[in-house]
Amino acid sequence: MNKDQLAKVAAAMCAPGKGILAADESSGTIKKRFDAIGVESTADSRRDYREMMFRTQDAMTQNISGVILYDETIRQNAADGTPLVKIIEQMGSLPGIKVDAGVKFLPNFPNETITEGLDGLSERMAEYYKIGARFAKWRAVIDIADGIPSRGAILANAQALARYAAICQANDIVPIVEPEVLMDGGHDQARCYEVTEFVLKTLYNELYEAKVFLEGTVLKPNMIVPGKKSAKQVSAEQVAAETVRVFKQTVPVAVPGIAFLSGGQADVEATANLDAINKLGPLPWLVTFSYGRALQAAPQKAWAGKADNVPAAQKAFAHRAKMNGLASKGQWNKGLEG
Ligand code: 13P
Repeated sequence: MNKDQLAKVAAAMCAPGKGILAADESSGTIKKRFDAIGVESTADSRRDYREMMFRTQDAMTQNISGVILYDETIRQNAADGTPLVKIIEQMGSLPGIKVDAGVKFLPNFPNETITEGLDGLSERMAEYYKIGARFAKWRAVIDIADGIPSRGAILANAQALARYAAICQANDIVPIVEPEVLMDGGHDQARCYEVTEFVLKTLYNELYEAKVFLEGTVLKPNMIVPGKKSAKQVSAEQVAAETVRVFKQTVPVAVPGIAFLSGGQADVEATANLDAINKLGPLPWLVTFSYGRALQAAPQKAWAGKADNVPAAQKAFAHRAKMNGLASKGQWNKGLEG
């Protein structure tokens, strides 16, 4: 394990003003997104869409520290034959790779899931490193509903995340450790806090047991928000206060960076919340974004599958990347949205 390189890459992923573009939608998920804009999902349309983002100069050179890719994309070439990985590198950004194989129901734990993908992972990591990946992502999913989550399911997911992280580091790849507590339910903010606190406590205990080098990791968590169906919604300042409070209880200062998922928040809402969190600084970690939907919703809509729309889509992408870059420094305000 090259600890110096791991620590350098982890810090670069969360450099002030920059964050991560999550473009690692599986073929099933990207089809859903394309259905919504009336575009057929083919290898070429997926390539065209992602190439459009990776060639957005302002965003990629100034605000996007790294891009999480899917297995198909990391092997794909742009329309002119250049590997997409090369384009990302030429922009000064880091290629990353989603390595989990998705969620399956966890036997004996009704309505709870376990993330799979550990078998053969070390060999796959070695190949991804050769292709250019310098970091990876594994997402565990914790749902909140009546009677769930259980301690058993949280522990199983934390153990898998820890084994994944150790395998990453053995291959000189920085693990993004993502224990996502979903915001789909009707629970309130206090319940999100309570579950996230337990999840993070369990996770960092398992990372310790697995001897993971924390300085060479990035945490990708949810914010502390009420469920989407909750009648009690809260302000960005309230999200920020509870989110920072839970991290202070659970995330070691050895962890260099925290990069949030957007999890279904509207795009400007995700920016406002990140900004409010950073306005509470200085914080002991670099705190930024690793957004999928909150970065892509606007450019996806503008693109709509048409080559003529590429400039407008790139403008929309550059704008969201810039807004989130400012939020990573606590320098965003609503007036900048224009
Ligand atoms: P969202 O920001 O759309 O939640 O996606 C980020 C991600 O990579 C989830 O694993």
